[in-house]
Amino acid sequence: MNFLVLVSGNGSNLQALIDAERAGRFAPLGAGNGAASPEKEGRIAAVLSDRAGVFALERAKTAGIPALTEEPDRRLVQPGERQRDLSRRILCAAREWKADLIILAGFLSILRGEIIREYEGRIINIHPSLLPKYGGPGMYGDRVHRAVLAAGEKESGCTVHLVDEGTDTGSILLQRTIPVLAEDTVETLAERIHQEEHVAIVEAAAAMVAKLRKPE
Ligand code: GAR
Repeated sequence: MNFLVLVSGNGSNLQALIDAERAGRFAPLGAGNGAASPEKEGRIAAVLSDRAGVFALERAKTAGIPALTEEPDRRLVQPGERQRDLSRRILCAAREWKADLIILAGFLSILRGEIIREYEGRIINIHPSLLPKYGGPGMYGDRVHRAVLAAGEKESGCTVHLVDEGTDTGSILLQRTIPVLAEDTVETLAERIHQEEHVAIVEAAAAMVAKLRKPE
């Protein structure tokens, strides 16, 4: 079962997936049982970034995983047109790498069009808030934590959800919650939520592998 992992930056969530794969977390019956039926084991087939030179690509190369870059075409001035063009190229990569599951692990472009339909129920995204709060266009990364602190929220966390035609609107697969502390800054809150994300993305990917695995 092939994963195509989409990234835009540091790639700590990608690293969690790489480490989990090595630990056998995507094997059929849990750790250590993958060797018996490798075709049913989840594996990162390729990593694709929408920005050149990001550290996530280095993490992929270090792990021996093909690292691809597909940047938005700046000549396309309409955001919708640019998103659809990038989405088409990502769909080509997904087909080429025979992806069964597409994982948005800190991916900051919006997917639109055919890829959403062709991979319906097989694209997951991690978001650093308790959706539906603090999601939608323009809400990503530290902007989310800044908004959570400004609103005086008592808790925050992360969400893994299926990707649909909207932005951060697909069915929620799982959430992890942490308290917001009085002394929290954007940096401390982001750091603690990142730790939760690394658990959540692995749990969600493992659950998807179990769900999508073809029956015996
Ligand atoms: C993560 O916090 C992820 O939830 C967020 O970007 C960060 C990437 O970190 N994604 C979004 O905001 C998507 N809307 P990483 O590159 O270290 O995995």
